[in-house]
Amino acid sequence: MSDRLTALRRSVDQPPAGFDWDENAWREAGERVLRLVAAASTDWESRRPSPDHPDDALKLFSGPTPQDGVAFEELMTRIEREVLPTSAYNGHPRWLAYIMGAPAPVSVLGDLIASSLNQNSGLWRVTPSSTAIEVQTLSWIAEMLGFPSAAEGIFLSGGQMANIVAHAVIRDAKVPWDARAFGVRGFNGNAPQLRIYASSELHYCHEQAAEILGMGRQAVRKVPVDESYRMRLDLLAQMIAEDRSRGDLPIAIVGTAGTVGTGAIDPIPELVSAARDEGLWLHIDGAYGAFATLADNCSIGLRALSDANSVVCDPHKWLFSAIDAGVLLVREAGRLERSFAFHASYLETADRGARVDFLERGPENSRPQRAFKVWLSIQAFGRDGYAAMIDYNIRLAAYLEELVRATPGLALAAPRELSIVCWRVELEGLDRPALEELQVAVIEEIERRGIAMLSNARLQDGRTAIRACITNFRTRAEDMEKIVKASAQIGSELAAKSRR
Ligand SMILES: Cc1ncc(COP(=O)(O)O)c(C=O)c1O
Repeated sequence: MSDRLTALRRSVDQPPAGFDWDENAWREAGERVLRLVAAASTDWESRRPSPDHPDDALKLFSGPTPQDGVAFEELMTRIEREVLPTSAYNGHPRWLAYIMGAPAPVSVLGDLIASSLNQNSGLWRVTPSSTAIEVQTLSWIAEMLGFPSAAEGIFLSGGQMANIVAHAVIRDAKVPWDARAFGVRGFNGNAPQLRIYASSELHYCHEQAAEILGMGRQAVRKVPVDESYRMRLDLLAQMIAEDRSRGDLPIAIVGTAGTVGTGAIDPIPELVSAARDEGLWLHIDGAYGAFATLADNCSIGLRALSDANSVVCDPHKWLFSAIDAGVLLVREAGRLERSFAFHASYLETADRGARVDFLERGPENSRPQRAFKVWLSIQAFGRDGYAAMIDYNIRLAAYLEELVRATPGLALAAPRELSIVCWRVELEGLDRPALEELQVAVIEEIERRGIAMLSNARLQDGRTAIRACITNFRTRAEDMEKIVKASAQIGSELAAKSRR
């Protein structure tokens, strides 16, 4: 052996210690972790949905980079003392803000297992079980939504990313030039302006997709809605005709199955016909509402999403999966690869083409095993279990709606289709600006007192509503009663102060 080789060999004799654990260390640390997780996931009535002093987090989590390692025990104590009290709990029975699913225990543990397996779920060769599980879970979800079994899909970080990916697929399917190579301005730079039609209640991610894909936000035409917050078909037809006569290129209609504001469902059967007649792609953004197709009390209109060209749904909303888990399904197989595959030489494997390489279906190379926790949950609850719980959430919302209707000082503010209820505190003696401030103040005060976590919706006339969205398997009738009582009481307390 040469001197250099000997010296090099000696230099790697002693590896830095502390990175790995033996089985006992795993068990000890794991037991402590599970105790902490169980405590943070139960006994909800003794805890608030949101932290008492959220700003403490900024003080607690600042400071220099640690120079030396800290013992795991000490880190766990820090989590108990500092992280748990400054966290917000969307699994709390009265977390009704935005659209967030409470994470089912089985999905939380599923994420732990997936993390330990650390499957880099882009390439079949390095993740056979993960890839097969993702394919199977996508086909279960397709079946739940009435999509054909030949449909293909991909798990992404959430509804936003799934919609952005959908817009890339739509662009490549509908423009008559190679948009991947030449962009949306075309080979000569003089291609027509692309147009996508969505209701004015759309989620902002569709405009973001148009920005990211270089179509420009102007590509998204916002079609006004009717009094039920549903896209107006007469204006849709008119806008398409206007755009065509101007020389623009309409490519898609985006229908929303459960708007983020009021939970409205666009007239999907009519959008299916309109898209067919106009030769447009029909994409359904069902990030929130798509899984309501499972519920007995689902409208027939919603079920028509099975006729769309593509649909987005969010298991981390109504399948109660831990974040993150969004899904894009595309009816015609091969479309995702047509938009995303690069066939990089360093990733070529002997069985290329024979299996699914998810990195060819989307914009991520290294990707987590998102499907695993959803695969576990679907088995744990079954299609019927989910149908019953989603149905129950919708019935709770109907109960909340009636409670609001029956409570003096409160007024319903928008029609309800799914599990979102919007209401306002309406009291005499306050002008419009004061009433506007009151709605926001009530939401904030309910949060401050640790009663519930609500959020707001903007109504068609520009006013603000107090809004609750129930995508939570822990929420009960008593929780509905508490928030109605709290909004009426706090509303009149705050109104009395503002009249003074
Ligand atoms: C209709 C709709 N689309 C897209 C999204 C974005 O989903 P995510 O937050 O999972 O990215 C939401 C979020 O609430 C939504 O309601």
